Amino acid sequence: MLRIALIGAGRMGQAIATEIAASADLELAGVCVRKGGKSAAITRLEAIDGLPAVPVVSHPRDILGNADVVIDFSLPDACVAVAAAAVQEKTPLVCGVTGLDAIGLSALQAASAHIPLLYERNMSFGIALMQRLVQQAAAALGSDFSASIAEVHHRHKRDAPSGTALKLGEALAAGRGEEFQAVYHYDPDGSRGEPAAGDIVYSVSRQGENPGEHSVRFASDNEVLQLSHQVTNRRVFAQGALRAAGWLVGQRAGFYSLRDIVA
Ligand SMILES: NC(=O)c1ccc[n+]([C@@H]2O[C@H](COP(=O)([O-])OP(=O)(O)OC[C@H]3O[C@@H](n4cnc5c(N)ncnc54)[C@H](OP(=O)(O)O)[C@@H]3O)[C@@H](O)[C@H]2O)c1
Repeated sequence: MLRIALIGAGRMGQAIATEIAASADLELAGVCVRKGGKSAAITRLEAIDGLPAVPVVSHPRDILGNADVVIDFSLPDACVAVAAAAVQEKTPLVCGVTGLDAIGLSALQAASAHIPLLYERNMSFGIALMQRLVQQAAAALGSDFSASIAEVHHRHKRDAPSGTALKLGEALAAGRGEEFQAVYHYDPDGSRGEPAAGDIVYSVSRQGENPGEHSVRFASDNEVLQLSHQVTNRRVFAQGALRAAGWLVGQRAGFYSLRDIVA
């Protein structure tokens, strides 16, 4: 039985709690939500079929002691405190939060010196494979092909471009042997002017309840190669995070991603 502490009870938190409720091998040890968000979270959790009542707290340390692993799908401002609590309680941490700034990312890096920590901006195994394919395609096609990345997500999403779109761009730049930041071109208000040759050009759409679509397009004068991925149900992220959590328990302290599981 794997006991899981969950941080965040939004769309992803609910999807993970739903998977746990349906599994005989998983148990929810407790849920940590934003101060002031408790009663709404309890109502959302009570609506999940078969989920026993669990402690709902507003500080992670209050549930980590009773868990084998913690899964964080809250928002960026919670991550530093979650990482600190995971280190204090020596609890492996799976973090799926996107839009982290340098402080959040370095808090995760620092925590991974003490505990096994898996950070993944997209818990889909299909995306983990796509990342590898994009890197391979970029290496093979080189700079004769221009590259662009398009993503579509639900209208509630706060960060743009998505963490996944950035991750795909990083893989693309790595395939070409380039520094990602030097070729990253996202210009939602048109103030940066035309992209330079070789830039990776981003476009972003926010529509309805779309759980996520990404496509990477390589184009020369005479042909186009496109790699695309579409999430049809956000359960894929919940199942990926739970598989990652099971894998992470028992690993040495270190910084991991889904690519460490997808051999
Ligand atoms: N890695 C992946 O595969 C993947 C997939 C989908 C989403 N994501 C990312 O996962 C995160 C959550 O996504 P979502 O769609 O579930 O967002 P969401 O519906 O907005 O849920 C976020 C939840 O976090 C809670 N929260 C905010 N601050 C908190 C804090 N300090 N402590 C504890 N909980 C806190 C929010 O509480 P309130 O409702 O009270 O504000 C809300 O319940 C986002 O960063 C999203 O981009 C990652």
